[in-house]
Amino acid sequence: MDIRKRLTIQFSLIVVTLFILFSVCVYFFSSLHRKSEFIIRMKNRGITISQRLDNIKDLDLKLIKEIDKNTKNALYGETFYIYSSDNKLIYANYTSATNNPPPDKEILDKIKNTDKIFYLGVNEAVGFIYSGKTVQYKVVVSAYDQLGFDGLQSLKIILLVGCILSVACSYILGWIYSGNALQPIDKIINDVDKITATELNLRLDEGKKQDEIERLSMTFNQMLDRLVKAFETQKGFISNASHELRTPLTSMKGHIEVTLVKDRSSQEYSEVLRALLSDIENLSKISNNLLSLALATTDAGALRLKKIRIDDILFAAREELLSNVKGYAVTITLSSIPEDENRLSILGNEQLIKTAFFNLLENGCKYSNNNAVEVSFNTTAHEIELVFRNTGIGIPESEIWQVFQPFYRASNIENKTGSGLGLALTQKIVELHKGGIEIYSVINKETSVRVVFPTNS
Ligand SMILES: Nc1ncnc2c1ncn2[C@@H]1O[C@H](COP(=O)(O)OP(=O)(O)O)[C@@H](O)[C@H]1O
Ligand SMILES: [Mg+2]
Repeated sequence: MDIRKRLTIQFSLIVVTLFILFSVCVYFFSSLHRKSEFIIRMKNRGITISQRLDNIKDLDLKLIKEIDKNTKNALYGETFYIYSSDNKLIYANYTSATNNPPPDKEILDKIKNTDKIFYLGVNEAVGFIYSGKTVQYKVVVSAYDQLGFDGLQSLKIILLVGCILSVACSYILGWIYSGNALQPIDKIINDVDKITATELNLRLDEGKKQDEIERLSMTFNQMLDRLVKAFETQKGFISNASHELRTPLTSMKGHIEVTLVKDRSSQEYSEVLRALLSDIENLSKISNNLLSLALATTDAGALRLKKIRIDDILFAAREELLSNVKGYAVTITLSSIPEDENRLSILGNEQLIKTAFFNLLENGCKYSNNNAVEVSFNTTAHEIELVFRNTGIGIPESEIWQVFQPFYRASNIENKTGSGLGLALTQKIVELHKGGIEIYSVINKETSVRVVFPTNS
């Protein structure tokens, strides 16, 4: 069911419920009012008759009956039973004894001056005590409230018709109202339909940026901005990646072509093969980094995470780097080893963390002036902090924010080899483990990279 229909039905239901509640109240209070009014009218009639009876003692009872019948304000089907205080019937006036049976002794005994209604046959009745000049009378009056019940009947019809009309009106009004309220959303749907992957520059109208719909448009536009940026980054990434992969391939092709021009000595062949090997190593490094980047970009749920000790992995990464490159030096300072193993452990992927540390250690040595990096390792109650520090060329201040972008290499690296993927990959890995990474650098002086992981404890 669409929102417009749902809103209309909800609106109608609210209106109808309110109307029914209102009608029930009106009917209930009207019927209470009818009852109390009818009691007064019956009592007044009873008092009139009792006065007459008391004043004119020796008057013919038949005559009193005749006068009663012809009174203008007689009630419909009215009947009077007047008793002496010892329950002897003095006067009775009824048309049919089945419709208006005389009150039994129990009723007569209970008569007091209260306005409580009871029934004699089908008719309502009241009883009260009338004090005459010398004696007291027990008076019972019963009648049918024709006027009152007719009034209630018409009120019922009016309320019923009102209810039906209110359903119809509220449905029509609700339909118009919800249509108006949803119009801006319809507009957004139409506008969004026009925005396709190729027309991402189109934006929704944000109006005055005040109401909810305008704020929704704003949020949507911001999301589009982010998407455009992501698309552009991806485009840039692909072209950078293919460029990086093409460079060693072109170099290999060149080497082979030049070598094949004429016959070479075995020494020349081995030199070429060595150059080719270095290009191949470079290629495999890039493709490994790209693969790891793809892995680190997936969500943590897809990786098999287990409890790993950060200090062990740091030493393993150092081992790997030092066995790969001769002449590099890595100093690791552990400020204090906590007894609780959990304070050294995180939930993570060992291979990825090792790659991250390897990159940071390699960068430290590569961009330092003494091929050495120092790592200080600290643990706090809920964090593990590692700072990789080296002296050396540093990073120009204006470029620091860019070094985490894939393939970005600072302008002062001169002839140092690399692909610019290391830090991008490291950042992704650290974020995947809910950690944080920051880089501080002073050009021509030093660089330090701070990595923090939340621990298990
Ligand atoms: N320790 C460091 N000292 C100076 N510059 C660094 C350091 N680490 C990273 N950089 C700069 O950040 C850039 C990106 O680093 P990275 O992603 O590891 O790529 P790569 O090492 O392949 O060039 C490097 O090219 C370099 O300019
Ligand atoms: Mg690097």
